Amino acid sequence: MKLGVNIDHIAVLREARRVANPDPLDALSICKRAGADQITIHLREDRRHMQDSDADNIIALSSLPVNLECAIEPSMIDIACALRPHRVTLVPEKREEVTTEGGLAVTGAQPKLKEAIRRLQEEEIEVSLFIDPTLEAVRTSVDLHVEWIEFHTGKYANIYAMLYGNLAKTHHTIKALELPRKVLKQMLDDELRNLRLLSCDAMELGLKVAAGHGLNYQNVQSIAEIETIEELNIGQSIIARSVYTGLEQAILDMKALLIR
Ligand code: PXP
Repeated sequence: MKLGVNIDHIAVLREARRVANPDPLDALSICKRAGADQITIHLREDRRHMQDSDADNIIALSSLPVNLECAIEPSMIDIACALRPHRVTLVPEKREEVTTEGGLAVTGAQPKLKEAIRRLQEEEIEVSLFIDPTLEAVRTSVDLHVEWIEFHTGKYANIYAMLYGNLAKTHHTIKALELPRKVLKQMLDDELRNLRLLSCDAMELGLKVAAGHGLNYQNVQSIAEIETIEELNIGQSIIARSVYTGLEQAILDMKALLIR
């Protein structure tokens, strides 16, 4: 199981004070040393954490493949084509959201999405679609001829948090308190089964499958056991742990959980 380390959260800390440190560029050699397989960065349209210069430097200097997440807006696709990362993951973006809350609306494949994919592939950049785990989204991704899909694991992570703790930090606290544990356990099993079946379908249909969002040291193992998922992209939990352990150890700890 490959690990993409999403280093955006380093820039979140820096931008909180609008200073020069911590610089996400300094994470590259540490990620490599700790055995990360990929660097993942999200260049948001509002540039609230990663800046253009970060993306530019990281893509130029990383010895690991870089997976650039961005919106399908033509102006972002211009930047992605110029930066030429190894892969671009197309994600939905809302200005008011704290983080990417759901998958791309791929169904109906708006002309904008098709055009973004066409332009990136013309530059020989692999394209991944960040989608909700539904059969419809998988089938549409196949029709769009992308190389990768990444399943949004937010629903799984939220149910896990409701069931096993960390409740105060989910957006679903009130609903969770109303649900019996048995129901939550069933919901978690259903979500895992859904991810397992869909990743198998996607692989058989020729897609490479990644997953990410909300994965952490407690909930990651069941996802890591799904053999048809090739890669996980994980950010917040790794960077949060690194505050106490250092980044190298935080990545090593996560890698240890991904061994199947
Ligand atoms: N994958 C994608 C496409 C994302 O947008 C994000 C969040 O930026 C992640 C993975 C990582 O999510 P988290 O920070 O919750 O681990």
